[in-house]
Amino acid sequence: MKIDIIEHEPPYRVGVIIGSLSRDSINRRLAGALERLAPPEFEFFEISYADLPLYNRDFDADYPQVAIDFKEAVAEADALLFVTPEYNRSLPGALKNAIDWGSRPWGQNAWANKPTGVIGASSGAIGTALGQQSLRGTLSFLNVRQMTSPEAYIQYRPGLVDDDGKVTVPETEEFLRTFVMAFAEHVLRVLTVIPRP
Ligand code: FNR
Repeated sequence: MKIDIIEHEPPYRVGVIIGSLSRDSINRRLAGALERLAPPEFEFFEISYADLPLYNRDFDADYPQVAIDFKEAVAEADALLFVTPEYNRSLPGALKNAIDWGSRPWGQNAWANKPTGVIGASSGAIGTALGQQSLRGTLSFLNVRQMTSPEAYIQYRPGLVDDDGKVTVPETEEFLRTFVMAFAEHVLRVLTVIPRP
């Protein structure tokens, strides 16, 4: 087997998928903070999925435009960063629905081989640990190239990230910088061996 080694030039475009549809999402705030801490060669853009209907396989024969657009946005991303809350000890249903849309029709899995990171914030003490575990299981099945370490479970206190995206607790800011630098390295490693589409 031969693996092509391909140099990729910056910028590296990171599609950010927020696991919450809330206007005031703390996870969107967290994503903003990560964008601020990321190396300048990494450009973040949010991939929205709020308008997707509930998936069922009857759509496979004639995918709606909103789902085609969603899959194209995923395809255009060099990497993906999931920033999600935990809902009832699992991943939010709307996020799972979006992942299902991206995975179909069978054989046209938009997630395959994407360099990916997972992080999340919640008000609860376990900081989305179980939600992320559920998400990781689904992403593994979909052949995503996940960063497995460091993990990041953020218990969000009001004011942790200010309106400019600045992290107000120095230790947390340092931790998030470490996380996003490791994510950037992971993305470059995956892109080195797996060509961009
Ligand atoms: C929650 N929340 C929550 N928190 C947690 O730590 N573990 C959990 O299992 C749940 N479950 C849960 C279910 C539902 C339906 C809601 C609406 C909320 C609380 C959650 O952490 C809090 O609402 C966050 O603010 C959600 O993130 P966003 O939407 O602000 O990004």
